[in-house]
Amino acid sequence: MAASKNIITPVETSNSPWSGRFSEPVSALVQRYTASVGFDRRLADYDIQGSLAHAQMLSAVGIINVDDLAAIRHGLGQIREEIRNGEFVWRTELEDVHLNIEKRLTALIGDAGKRLHTARSRNDQVATDIRLYLRDSIDGILSLIHRMQHALLDLAGKHTNTVMPGFTHLQVAQPVVFGHHLMAYFEMLKRDAERLTDCRKRVNQLPLGAAALAGTSYPISREMVAKQLEFDSVCENSLDAVSDRDFAIEFCAAAALIMTHLSRLSEELILWMSPSFGFIELADRFCTGSSIMPQKKNPDVPELVRGKTGRVNGHLVALLTLMKAQPLAYNKDNQEDKEPLFDTVDTLTDTLRIYADMLTGIRVNPLTMREAAMRGYATATDLADYLTKKGLPFREAHEAVAQAVRFAAESGRDLSALALPELQKFSPLIDAEVFCVLTLEGSIDSRDHIGGTAPEQTRAAISRAREWIDSRETR
Ligand code: ARG
Repeated sequence: MAASKNIITPVETSNSPWSGRFSEPVSALVQRYTASVGFDRRLADYDIQGSLAHAQMLSAVGIINVDDLAAIRHGLGQIREEIRNGEFVWRTELEDVHLNIEKRLTALIGDAGKRLHTARSRNDQVATDIRLYLRDSIDGILSLIHRMQHALLDLAGKHTNTVMPGFTHLQVAQPVVFGHHLMAYFEMLKRDAERLTDCRKRVNQLPLGAAALAGTSYPISREMVAKQLEFDSVCENSLDAVSDRDFAIEFCAAAALIMTHLSRLSEELILWMSPSFGFIELADRFCTGSSIMPQKKNPDVPELVRGKTGRVNGHLVALLTLMKAQPLAYNKDNQEDKEPLFDTVDTLTDTLRIYADMLTGIRVNPLTMREAAMRGYATATDLADYLTKKGLPFREAHEAVAQAVRFAAESGRDLSALALPELQKFSPLIDAEVFCVLTLEGSIDSRDHIGGTAPEQTRAAISRAREWIDSRETR
């Protein structure tokens, strides 16, 4: 994070709220090492939101009086403004976002500020802040996924008749339409959106009230705070509430999968854009040139998506490793949850945002795709199926077609370019109708069932997908 003019560097002081217990101040190095304010200050708005709900509850149940509540509201409102305007002075010696805000509140409103922390601990406070932050982030990411899905649908809709080679082992396998190929990514993103929606349920539980670890002796109402902050319910067990980071790990796992999907698509865009394929072109604004080779147009953005997938996958492993040996309940280790989580959110958000735009800027070369499908004997399976339907056992049909492909390859022709008598040498069952199945269109049209590549089926899949996305967006 860039150093801010408003961040005060460590000095050997002891104005921590806990310093009463200690006989000497921590060194500047230890302060810097243990502080999280450099990165957790981005939770400030959520911290204030949580504090406002907590204070309101404290007043409602009579733990603080209405004057204190009014002062706290006023003070936190002012702090929120100071932070937004960049006027707030963050102090490393105050460790984290929570203590920085609390100290400023007390400076602004006196004793009422000191009462805010009644019946809570930074342990349940930080867990609440992260959940509020992540809930917002998930909502933003979900709408970006939908935006990218719209871009996929628009592109797929234009290419329900555009034939390309379908690959297995990156060898030409069978013809498919480009729209069908793109819709495979729609399905991946649909699962991704469902996974995030499911993860959100477990994010949206309120830890506040667990206090340090065991709960609190004050007559608090956790339900009131949950309602105020729009949590679905409260975390059931106080020890679990302060120490659980499953929700962050789940989110990072879902994020790693999304990035993995985008990385696969990126790999395809990179291949398709290479002159050896020539299937598509990316808009110039997503590419760069070479300083030495004037002919180059490099697909930097998809390459970086592929590269950044590594770091997001790494964050998942970091969080799993962070948690794996922690005894209950809160341990300072948990402070290390934030940077991987924040970077995952940031990387994923930027990637999805850029991807939706990149897809709308793709230029497709249907002719090149078609020629590539023609070159690879993509209809050989169709010929084998044709013979099988005429009564030849599939294994024999496979062998006959293999011979025919070999013959055609030797003379540098496609199967559909062989004359009928030439084809009949491989099986007497072949008649003139064979040319219907040997064409690319004949092949794709015949895959006419749900999930198949026939243009009609592809169009139907696109309209089902539009319905699915509409039903989610109107919720
Ligand atoms: N900055 C801490 C974190 O991010 C807040 C909780 C600290 N609690 C404590 N008892 N030291 O986890």
